[in-house]
Amino acid sequence: MDQQKKNEIFDYAKAWVLEAGERIKSNIDSPRSIETKSNPNDLVTEMDQETEQFFAKKIKETYPDHYLLGEEGFGDEIEDLGGTVWIVDPIDGTMNFVHQKRNFAISIGIYYEGEGEIGLIYNVMEETLYTAKRGEGAYKNDVKLSPLNEERPLNESILALNTSWMIPENPHVDHQGIHDLVKKLRSTRSYGSAALEFALVAEGILDGYLTMTLMPWDYAAGSILVREVGGIVTRADREELDLLNKTTVLASRPNIHEEISSEYVRLKK
Ligand code: IPD
Ligand code: CA
Ligand code: CA
Ligand code: CA
Repeated sequence: MDQQKKNEIFDYAKAWVLEAGERIKSNIDSPRSIETKSNPNDLVTEMDQETEQFFAKKIKETYPDHYLLGEEGFGDEIEDLGGTVWIVDPIDGTMNFVHQKRNFAISIGIYYEGEGEIGLIYNVMEETLYTAKRGEGAYKNDVKLSPLNEERPLNESILALNTSWMIPENPHVDHQGIHDLVKKLRSTRSYGSAALEFALVAEGILDGYLTMTLMPWDYAAGSILVREVGGIVTRADREELDLLNKTTVLASRPNIHEEISSEYVRLKK
């Protein structure tokens, strides 16, 4: 992507994220209708939908030839990552948004010909904006984040995990491997927003994040951020991520990535 174009797209994306965040924030105490999607814990509110519509309008007005892949379905039907594709999660951490009114984020990853060029994650209530442009490092509120080059052993590492897939009957993962991993780690955390978990890995506050099911909009921005500070982001089996489908994800400091994947994550087919 041409540098001037990239800077221009970044500036628009940043302005829109801040504007959308302001709308969410100023309506945080308004009564809201909450619906469920695939199951009773899969929530969506009109604010998720309105925010995605806001981005859809801005993107289409400004860049009619760009595509939008969004969680709430106001974007395009995408079959490949050709051209410029905005991958948008209008509110990542809807359950936190509904129950806690905090710990949720707007997440935007902008891809050009399949390559992640720009990532933005906005922690709306804290007003913390994480940004990255490919090859230029990652930033938290305009302060550059340090590279993740400290080697920290697993027994001193904190890993974000979703506890829901640790239950023995989970069909996707060998329970004993995860059990052993949890015992080996210093500790685990679960924040309820994949985008923020990526941002915390990029910041070096978490040493890694392992999850069995994410959609492209959950990690499109986060993977760019983590890679910009030298972290590794792949599927849990270390294969390349597929940005068009549901996937497992392991994002971490470089020195623990292979160990977690090869010694502890045993996926069932
Ligand atoms: C969810 C959050 C959550 C993760 C789920 C996602 P949503 O996104 O990122 O942390 O565990 O897999 O679906 O629905 O709140 O945008
Ligand atoms: Ca959702
Ligand atoms: Ca999400
Ligand atoms: Ca969402």
